[in-house]
Amino acid sequence: MRTEKVTIHTLQKKKTSGDKITMLTCYDATFARLLDDAGVDILLVGDSLGMVIQGHSTTLPVTLDEMIYHTRAVARGARRAQVVGDMPFMSYQSSIEDALRAAGRMVKEGGAEAVKLEGGAQHAELVRRLVATGIPVMGHIGLTPQSFHQMGGFKVQGRGSAAARALIEDAKTLEAAGAYSLVLEGIPLELGREVTEAISIPTIGIGAGPHTDGQVLVIYDLLGMNEDFKPKFVRRYENLAVRIRTAVDEYCEDVRAGRFPTEDESFAATPPAAAPARKVATVSALTFAGGCAGSPDEDVPVQEGAAVYSTVKKD
Ligand code: KIV
Repeated sequence: MRTEKVTIHTLQKKKTSGDKITMLTCYDATFARLLDDAGVDILLVGDSLGMVIQGHSTTLPVTLDEMIYHTRAVARGARRAQVVGDMPFMSYQSSIEDALRAAGRMVKEGGAEAVKLEGGAQHAELVRRLVATGIPVMGHIGLTPQSFHQMGGFKVQGRGSAAARALIEDAKTLEAAGAYSLVLEGIPLELGREVTEAISIPTIGIGAGPHTDGQVLVIYDLLGMNEDFKPKFVRRYENLAVRIRTAVDEYCEDVRAGRFPTEDESFAATPPAAAPARKVATVSALTFAGGCAGSPDEDVPVQEGAAVYSTVKKD
């Protein structure tokens, strides 16, 4: 089992050794636990949550408080993986002081171990100040979704030699300012390779080809949760949209037909004598173990006769 905490040093070593870095977006504690158990190196609490969780068409409306809320949930579920909190639009662009305060909240209140911000050389001074304050910074260049209107949509960036040169300069400037890694989004694969070779900090690509030091995807895209969204750079490893609908269809059928719940799935007035009474630990431990039924300090086990929940303790 992988237990050693992933830090900025772990990631730097991976770049040096050529081991690929794995990063996925994550927005809640249950997914954090699952992705961490699967060995993902970095959990990015991306502002993509504005689109996949909140249903907006861009990431622009996401607030700092919302990012802190989700980051805190992910930090509770993560053990080994590094937790990176995305700085939302207008939390870091207006002044360095505001940005320091916002990033500080991501760390203090959200439990982020690093912050990510979009943009290149224009943020060099901010990156220096954050790093000097003790907050590791992941840069993000190429297709930067917070510049949706300026880019005229979600469009591939860095095509043509001038744009490519500018992007490489941005990467070098962010590295010199102290960023510990860079997300490269939506750029040609040749440029992904060039940037990766031009800097000594790890690059993590999304739609940036196979030559970056690591890859990141939005977890909902990887799991196929949105059938209407299948851009070229996404590989679906599951088709959860179909599986979830099928499972919920079955549940609804069972409820309507009176097949759920059965007596076995119900509590009797008198608990079976064979089952020793157990005390439920806490609501949060219970819900985290996979259910939301039951109330705290109830002398009836959630499942009579069997300690299904690992957190259910004996008196
Ligand atoms: O917000 C996000 O999820 C991101 C990743 C796609 C890199 O920035």
